[in-house]
Parts: sequence; structure tokens; C-alpha cells
Amino acid sequence: MTRTLITGGLVVTAAEEMPADVLIENGTVLALGLPGRHQWAAERVFDASGKYVIPGGVDVHTHMELPFGGTYASDTFETGTRAAAWGGTTTIVDFAVQSKDASLRAGLDAWHAKADGRCAIDYGLHMIMSDVNESTLREMPGLIGEGVTSFKLFMAYPGVFYSDDGQILRAMQQAAETGALIMMHAENGPAIDVLVEQALARGETDPRHHGEVRKALLEAEATHRAVQLARVAGAPLYVVHVSAREALAELAAARDLGLPVFGETCPQYLFLSTDNLAEPDFEGAKYVCSTPLRPKDHQAALWRGLRTDDLQVVSTDHCPFCFKGQKELGRGDFSKIPNGLPGVENRMDLLHQAVVDGHLTRRRWIDIACAAPARMFGLYPRKGTLAPGSDADVVIYDPHATHTLSAATHHMNVDYSAYEGRTVTGRVETVLSRGEVVLDRGHYLGRPGHGAFLPRSTCQYL
Ligand code: URP
Ligand code: ZN
Ligand code: ZN
Repeated sequence: MTRTLITGGLVVTAAEEMPADVLIENGTVLALGLPGRHQWAAERVFDASGKYVIPGGVDVHTHMELPFGGTYASDTFETGTRAAAWGGTTTIVDFAVQSKDASLRAGLDAWHAKADGRCAIDYGLHMIMSDVNESTLREMPGLIGEGVTSFKLFMAYPGVFYSDDGQILRAMQQAAETGALIMMHAENGPAIDVLVEQALARGETDPRHHGEVRKALLEAEATHRAVQLARVAGAPLYVVHVSAREALAELAAARDLGLPVFGETCPQYLFLSTDNLAEPDFEGAKYVCSTPLRPKDHQAALWRGLRTDDLQVVSTDHCPFCFKGQKELGRGDFSKIPNGLPGVENRMDLLHQAVVDGHLTRRRWIDIACAAPARMFGLYPRKGTLAPGSDADVVIYDPHATHTLSAATHHMNVDYSAYEGRTVTGRVETVLSRGEVVLDRGHYLGRPGHGAFLPRSTCQYL
């Protein structure tokens, strides 16, 4: 029996803030107690005076080793989960990918093989359905039984991941019957492809045109359509990486009707903009992702949506591609730039900066980064909070320390930082995963293989 005690900190969860000591035994939280009002003894004691004691972050949207545009996302499960831990995230949910003409089973097995024995922190898997058909629809209940309870569909990328409206409706009907959650990449792909072709024909090849052709209205239109299809099917819906205020308005309208419609946004949409996409000398390629970055004036709507609960989750959509050799594939043709940004290490700090800047309260920070994603994807209260019985995934967070985000110091396997040179207030000091110390005051103590697969229950908001 190993006991760890964290003393003197301010425990912050989505529900409350209180000065409390945290007693951990055999990998789970045993008790929280008023400082000085207990006689707990432990082999290991952390003094968290002046610090926050928070649940480890839960990032429910990452893509380690994702095949995209003829290359692969540059973080493996080993490097990506190590970087996540450095940033105070102790759970990820990544996406297994069904290849066209293959089964969901084959895709899931392949992703299990990539992750098994390599992760520093616990992980779950969603399933990307690239081909909705009779056979793959029949496979869905089996996957749910194995704890893969959420399925991502794409209204974008015709010929690759794209599903048409009929396929989407069928998958949603199956979700309604089985309790699965459909995650939607909501952009009108066929219309975008027309605009891409026309832009390239006009000689508009720079990264900034990626943002121009992937219009906010085409995100909003697809979001509206996804909501209506989910209504027809009687299924819940989770819209991923919302970036446009017009798309958010569709979610808000659906939620005002009482529909089980949920949404996430990502730090890049809150902190970056089309100004970054327009950086000269092809530097804008570093910011190419889909949905794309929007003009700065969309950010206020996203922050408001997070405060009003029209958006429930902030995940990273961590999908890193190196500038050299990967983003460069799209020099002279923005449509060939691999889509995705690194960020799994930065999310907790950037969202704490939002607390410092007055966009969010401390409890809302923990809600959108830990508790709500855990609830959304069937992991609560094992993950996402600090309560007796929860996994001891704990972060001691120094709210006053400052540091500067940079590729020179980050741990993600990518040669640039999307937030290069940005100084943030707040820093992870110590990270525990199921009671084991993964990180302490700048020393990494984790190991590949500590992280275990998390079979998940269905969405806990339904
Ligand atoms: O640009 C992005 N978001 N890349 C990852 C794939 C996806 O659509 O989430
Ligand atoms: Zn997507
Ligand atoms: Zn993604």
C-alpha cells in the first residue's frame, strides 16, 4: 500500500474550490480533508502551498500518427502522451481510423497496436468511420461493448473521410439505437472543393487561401444540416473543432430547443486567427488546420459560448506536422498542406491564461478542460475530478509562475510552436497519473507503458 499526501493547496474542481489536503492510496484518491484537521501519514508528501491542486487534463481530441495528405502526424503515442503530461494532461482520447474498404475492427486493432505499451498517460479511442455501409454499421455495437463509444464522421474531405447525408443519417440512426455519440466534422466538403479548384485556377496558392475557401458559412451550413439529421435520427450530436461564430449560433439555437447537441472548440481558435495564416514566406502553413482559423472577431463569440455552455469542451485537435518536410508539401498549392496543429502540451496553460485574462473562472477552466470532456465521453468521475474513488490523476499547478511557449523548450515532436514566444502565467509543477509521479519540478519521471487503455461508457450528459 503506497500513500501520497498533497498538502496546503487550493483544490479546484468544476464544482468547487477549497483549501484541502488530498490523500492518495494505491492510485486513487482516498480522501480530501481540511488542512490541519486530520492525522494522515504517507510515504510521500508534496507541499502545494500557494498552488492549485487540480484534476489532470482530459483532452478528448488528439491524432497521434494520423495518416493525412501522404504523410503522418509527427507525434507517436509515446512522444505525444509524454508531451501531454508535461502540459498537465493525464488522459487523451485519440481517433482510430477505418481505412476505406476495411473494417472498423481492422482500424481499431491497428490503433490499439500503435498505442499499446507506449503511452505515458491513460488513453481512450474514438473511431473515425471513413466508409459507412451495412457492414460497418453492424460493427458499431461491438465497438461500444469494447469501450469505443463515439464515432467521428466527416462532412468534409470528399474521397477520403467524407460521408454523404444518407450515410450520416444511417450512422446517426444506429447511434440513436445503441447509445453511441456521433462526433461531426462539420464543413461542406464538396462546396469547399469547388472553391479550392477555383482559387488555385486564379493562382491563389498561399496558405491564407486555405482560410478563405473554407468559409464560415460552409461550416455553419454543415453544422445546421448535422443538427437536423441528428433530430431526424433522434440521436445526440457532438460537433468537433467549432471555429466560426455562425456555426456556434447553429449550436446555440439547437440547444435552445433543448436538443442533445454539444460542441467543442480548441485553443487555436481562441488564441490564433487568419492573421497567422497570412504570415509571409509560407510561415502561414504552420496554422493550416480544418476547420480553419477565423478572423479575430470570431473569438469573442467562442469565449462567450464557453461561458454560457453553448460550448462544453476545449480539446486540442492535436495533429502536428513539422514545417520542414511536411507542411512544405503544400508550397505552391495550399490544398496540399497537411491539416493540423500541435497543441496537446499547451492547452491547460492557455486556458489558465484565459482565467488570468478574465475570459473564464477557475472552475470553468477545470470544467471545460477536465470534467466536461470526461462526462461527455463516459470517463467521469474516474477522470476529470478529484473525489474519493477517482483515479489519482492530479496536477499541482503554480498559478503565478510565468513561462514562454517555444519549440525550443516544448516536448511535442514537431519543429515549431503555434504559440512561439507567447508568455503565459501559470505552470504545471507536478503531475501524478494513477498516483505515480510522471513529472516533478521540471523532471520527467514517466515511462511508456504506464498509460492504460480506458474502455469508456456512453455519454453521461444524456
Ligand atoms: O486540421 C485538422 N483538424 N486535422 C485533423 C483532422 C481533423 O479533421 O480533425
Ligand atoms: Zn475534423
Ligand atoms: Zn481532429
